[in-house]
Amino acid sequence: MATYFLFLSLHVLGACIWVGGHLVLATRILPRALRERRASVVSDFEQAYERIGLPALAVQVATGLWLAHRALGGWSGWLAANPPARVIQLKLLLLAATVALAIHAKLRVIPRLRDDNLPVLGAHIVGVTTLGVLFTLAGASLRFGGYPLFTP
Ligand code: HEM
Repeated sequence: MATYFLFLSLHVLGACIWVGGHLVLATRILPRALRERRASVVSDFEQAYERIGLPALAVQVATGLWLAHRALGGWSGWLAANPPARVIQLKLLLLAATVALAIHAKLRVIPRLRDDNLPVLGAHIVGVTTLGVLFTLAGASLRFGGYPLFTP
Protein backbone atom coordinates (compact mmCIF):
# COMPACT_ATOMS: atom_id res chain seq x y z
CA MET A 1 0.00 0.00 0.00
CA ALA A 2 2.83 2.41 0.91
CA THR A 3 4.58 1.71 -2.44
CA TYR A 4 1.31 2.26 -4.32
CA PHE A 5 0.81 5.58 -2.51
CA LEU A 6 4.40 6.63 -3.27
CA PHE A 7 4.26 5.67 -6.97
CA LEU A 8 0.82 7.24 -7.51
CA SER A 9 2.01 10.46 -5.79
CA LEU A 10 5.15 10.56 -7.98
CA HIS A 11 2.96 9.92 -11.04
CA VAL A 12 0.63 12.83 -10.19
CA LEU A 13 3.58 15.11 -9.35
CA GLY A 14 5.25 14.20 -12.67
CA ALA A 15 1.97 14.96 -14.48
CA CYS A 16 1.85 18.42 -12.84
CA ILE A 17 5.39 19.22 -14.00
CA TRP A 18 5.09 17.76 -17.52
CA VAL A 19 1.63 19.02 -18.44
CA GLY A 20 1.81 22.23 -16.38
CA GLY A 21 5.16 23.19 -17.91
CA HIS A 22 3.91 22.55 -21.44
CA LEU A 23 0.70 24.51 -20.85
CA VAL A 24 2.78 27.51 -19.71
CA LEU A 25 5.03 27.08 -22.76
CA ALA A 26 2.15 26.73 -25.23
CA THR A 27 -0.14 29.45 -23.87
CA ARG A 28 2.28 32.09 -22.51
CA ILE A 29 5.83 31.67 -23.84
CA LEU A 30 5.14 30.53 -27.43
CA PRO A 31 2.60 33.27 -28.27
CA ARG A 32 5.06 35.91 -27.02
CA ALA A 33 7.91 34.41 -29.08
CA LEU A 34 5.69 34.35 -32.19
CA ARG A 35 4.52 37.93 -31.59
CA GLU A 36 8.08 39.22 -31.14
CA ARG A 37 9.48 36.81 -33.83
CA ARG A 38 12.20 35.74 -31.40
CA ALA A 39 13.04 32.02 -31.24
CA SER A 40 15.30 32.65 -28.22
CA VAL A 41 12.22 33.30 -26.03
CA VAL A 42 11.27 29.62 -26.50
CA SER A 43 14.80 28.18 -26.40
CA ASP A 44 15.59 30.06 -23.14
CA PHE A 45 12.46 28.62 -21.52
CA GLU A 46 13.17 25.12 -22.87
CA GLN A 47 16.75 25.19 -21.63
CA ALA A 48 15.58 25.98 -18.09
CA TYR A 49 12.55 23.67 -18.22
CA GLU A 50 14.11 20.52 -19.71
CA ARG A 51 16.22 19.99 -16.55
CA ILE A 52 13.00 19.26 -14.65
CA GLY A 53 10.68 18.33 -17.56
CA LEU A 54 12.64 15.36 -18.95
CA PRO A 55 13.19 13.72 -15.54
CA ALA A 56 9.44 14.25 -14.89
CA LEU A 57 8.56 12.41 -18.11
CA ALA A 58 10.96 9.58 -17.16
CA VAL A 59 9.24 9.35 -13.76
CA GLN A 60 5.84 9.26 -15.54
CA VAL A 61 6.88 6.33 -17.69
CA ALA A 62 8.51 4.33 -14.86
CA THR A 63 5.69 4.86 -12.34
CA GLY A 64 3.04 4.50 -15.09
CA LEU A 65 4.37 1.09 -16.12
CA TRP A 66 4.43 -0.02 -12.46
CA LEU A 67 0.86 1.26 -11.87
CA ALA A 68 -0.35 -0.42 -15.07
CA HIS A 69 1.26 -3.72 -14.05
CA ARG A 70 -0.44 -3.42 -10.68
CA ALA A 71 -3.81 -2.77 -12.34
CA LEU A 72 -3.62 -5.26 -15.23
CA GLY A 73 -1.14 -7.98 -14.19
CA GLY A 74 0.78 -9.89 -16.90
CA TRP A 75 0.84 -9.54 -20.70
CA SER A 76 -2.62 -11.04 -21.29
CA GLY A 77 -4.07 -8.30 -19.05
CA TRP A 78 -2.25 -5.57 -21.04
CA LEU A 79 -3.55 -6.93 -24.37
CA ALA A 80 -7.16 -7.42 -23.18
CA ALA A 81 -10.10 -5.53 -24.72
CA ASN A 82 -11.69 -4.30 -21.45
CA PRO A 83 -11.95 -0.51 -20.76
CA PRO A 84 -9.02 -0.19 -18.27
CA ALA A 85 -6.70 -2.13 -20.62
CA ARG A 86 -7.87 0.07 -23.52
CA VAL A 87 -6.93 3.18 -21.50
CA ILE A 88 -3.42 1.81 -20.85
CA GLN A 89 -3.05 0.92 -24.55
CA LEU A 90 -4.12 4.49 -25.39
CA LYS A 91 -1.52 5.84 -22.92
CA LEU A 92 1.20 3.77 -24.61
CA LEU A 93 0.16 5.19 -28.01
CA LEU A 94 0.22 8.73 -26.57
CA LEU A 95 3.69 7.98 -25.19
CA ALA A 96 4.94 6.77 -28.59
CA ALA A 97 3.56 9.92 -30.26
CA THR A 98 5.14 12.17 -27.57
CA VAL A 99 8.55 10.50 -27.94
CA ALA A 100 8.35 10.68 -31.78
CA LEU A 101 7.52 14.42 -31.68
CA ALA A 102 10.24 15.11 -29.10
CA ILE A 103 12.93 13.22 -31.07
CA HIS A 104 11.92 14.95 -34.32
CA ALA A 105 12.06 18.36 -32.61
CA LYS A 106 15.42 17.66 -30.96
CA LEU A 107 17.15 16.20 -34.03
CA ARG A 108 15.53 18.03 -36.97
CA VAL A 109 13.78 21.22 -35.83
CA ILE A 110 15.79 22.71 -32.94
CA PRO A 111 19.23 22.49 -34.66
CA ARG A 112 17.79 24.58 -37.55
CA LEU A 113 15.68 26.88 -35.39
CA ARG A 114 15.59 30.49 -36.59
CA ASP A 115 13.27 33.42 -35.88
CA ASP A 116 11.47 32.86 -39.21
CA ASN A 117 10.80 29.10 -38.82
CA LEU A 118 9.62 29.23 -35.20
CA PRO A 119 6.04 28.16 -36.18
CA VAL A 120 7.39 24.66 -37.01
CA LEU A 121 8.60 24.25 -33.42
CA GLY A 122 5.35 25.90 -32.28
CA ALA A 123 3.37 23.10 -33.95
CA HIS A 124 5.46 20.52 -32.06
CA ILE A 125 4.86 22.35 -28.77
CA VAL A 126 1.08 22.46 -29.33
CA GLY A 127 1.18 18.75 -30.27
CA VAL A 128 3.10 17.65 -27.16
CA THR A 129 0.87 19.84 -24.95
CA THR A 130 -2.32 18.34 -26.46
CA LEU A 131 -0.93 14.84 -25.94
CA GLY A 132 -0.15 15.77 -22.30
CA VAL A 133 -3.74 16.90 -21.69
CA LEU A 134 -5.02 13.65 -23.28
CA PHE A 135 -2.64 11.69 -20.98
CA THR A 136 -4.23 13.45 -18.00
CA LEU A 137 -7.81 12.72 -19.14
CA ALA A 138 -6.91 9.08 -19.81
CA GLY A 139 -5.24 8.80 -16.37
CA ALA A 140 -8.22 10.29 -14.54
CA SER A 141 -10.63 7.97 -16.40
CA LEU A 142 -8.88 4.94 -14.84
CA ARG A 143 -10.52 5.84 -11.53
CA PHE A 144 -13.84 5.24 -13.29
CA GLY A 145 -12.76 1.95 -14.86
CA GLY A 146 -11.98 3.68 -18.17
CA TYR A 147 -15.27 5.63 -18.38
CA PRO A 148 -16.07 7.95 -20.22
CA LEU A 149 -13.31 7.21 -22.77
CA PHE A 150 -14.21 3.52 -23.05
CA THR A 151 -17.38 1.70 -22.03
CA PRO A 152 -17.85 -2.09 -21.73
C1 HEM B 1 3.04 12.49 -19.45
C2 HEM B 1 2.56 11.28 -19.23
C3 HEM B 1 1.45 10.94 -18.27
C4 HEM B 1 0.57 11.77 -17.60
C5 HEM B 1 0.46 13.28 -17.66
C6 HEM B 1 -0.26 10.92 -16.78
C7 HEM B 1 -1.26 11.38 -15.94
C8 HEM B 1 -2.01 10.60 -15.09
C9 HEM B 1 -3.01 11.09 -14.16
C10 HEM B 1 -3.39 12.55 -13.95
C11 HEM B 1 -3.52 10.02 -13.52
C12 HEM B 1 -4.66 10.04 -12.47
C13 HEM B 1 -4.11 9.82 -11.09
C14 HEM B 1 -5.23 9.73 -10.08
O1 HEM B 1 -6.16 8.95 -10.26
O2 HEM B 1 -5.18 10.46 -9.10
C15 HEM B 1 -2.86 8.83 -14.03
C16 HEM B 1 -3.11 7.57 -13.61
C17 HEM B 1 -2.54 6.45 -14.18
N1 HEM B 1 -1.58 6.41 -15.18
FE1 HEM B 1 -0.73 8.01 -16.07
N2 HEM B 1 0.11 9.61 -16.97
C18 HEM B 1 1.14 9.58 -17.87
C19 HEM B 1 1.80 8.47 -18.36
C20 HEM B 1 1.44 7.17 -18.07
C21 HEM B 1 2.03 6.00 -18.66
C22 HEM B 1 3.16 6.00 -19.70
C23 HEM B 1 1.40 4.92 -18.13
C24 HEM B 1 1.64 3.45 -18.41
C25 HEM B 1 1.44 2.93 -19.56
C26 HEM B 1 0.43 5.40 -17.18
C27 HEM B 1 -0.41 4.63 -16.41
C28 HEM B 1 -1.30 5.08 -15.45
C29 HEM B 1 -2.10 4.23 -14.59
C30 HEM B 1 -2.10 2.69 -14.55
C31 HEM B 1 -2.87 5.08 -13.77
C32 HEM B 1 -3.90 4.67 -12.70
C33 HEM B 1 -3.23 4.63 -11.34
C34 HEM B 1 -4.18 4.14 -10.27
O3 HEM B 1 -5.19 4.82 -10.00
O4 HEM B 1 -3.88 3.09 -9.69
N3 HEM B 1 0.48 6.79 -17.17
N4 HEM B 1 -1.94 9.22 -14.99
